Amino acid sequence: MNKSLASQNVSEAHQRRIAFFDSGQGGLTVWESVVNKHPTLNTIYLGDNARYPYGNKGADTVTRYASEAILFLAAQNAELIVVACGTASSVAVARLKQVFRLPVIGIVEGFCAEAAQLFKPNRRVAVLGTRFTVASGRFEAVLKECGVENVWQRSCPLFVPLVEEGVSSGDIARAACRMYLSDMPSDVDVVMLACTHFPRFAAVIAETLGEILNRTVVIRSAEEEKVLYSCQSGQEPPLILLDSSSSVLAAVESFLAAHPNRNQFMGGHSELFCTDAPARFAQVAQVFANTALANPRQISLGSL
Ligand code: DGL
Repeated sequence: MNKSLASQNVSEAHQRRIAFFDSGQGGLTVWESVVNKHPTLNTIYLGDNARYPYGNKGADTVTRYASEAILFLAAQNAELIVVACGTASSVAVARLKQVFRLPVIGIVEGFCAEAAQLFKPNRRVAVLGTRFTVASGRFEAVLKECGVENVWQRSCPLFVPLVEEGVSSGDIARAACRMYLSDMPSDVDVVMLACTHFPRFAAVIAETLGEILNRTVVIRSAEEEKVLYSCQSGQEPPLILLDSSSSVLAAVESFLAAHPNRNQFMGGHSELFCTDAPARFAQVAQVFANTALANPRQISLGSL
């Protein structure tokens, strides 16, 4: 293990805990879904905002960044690493699983299995992600393994900065949606929001797709299923926007259920780390988390 990273044990607590990792703050939506259900779970969250965004970077770079993050998190007593980032899950997690003894889960497998359960023959599943998530073809490959033959993919990189700027409704948000999604095929029944930021853009995605496809649109997450756009005249069943939170929650719960000392993960202790500008990190974090967050502490990864 890299000594400089391993020696950065900056945490006070030494309980068992589950780590969540993302390029920035977007993964807090996944973290929050898990802690809402398990409020006493000990967690640690790391957002690598100094090197954000990952979505426009290649597999080798993202794998190196994620490896450095995992070394840090392992040194903080993390016993499970949840890679909440869609890009890192797509381009790096398969390799990370081979390299680390610590269990590492990404969002791809469970999420694709969930989408496959909703898939009907001769229909289609859509995947929306960052540029490198889509370019990796990882979602498409895993969906095919799960029996989903028809996949439509689209990278929507502009959604990411718009969400962080708080522009998730109005003309600019609608124009971005129309630019990326106008040609979505009408036989899509499930749209996978395969990027941390997209659940915060779901309302405008739903409005755009509902209008274009003349369909009711619902969102399904760990917390709820709710109608985002209602269409009385359409003939098709509702289009489902799916976020990754249910499948990540299920994976965390099955890890805990199989752990002989699962009670030792319960102490209600959570810590937040970033790699740059903690005050700004905390500000943007409020876009993604509704619960009160610990003050983020800045750490260094790799050669930063
Ligand atoms: N966290 C990234 C993802 O889910 C989005 C932001 C970025 O590009 O780093 O793919």
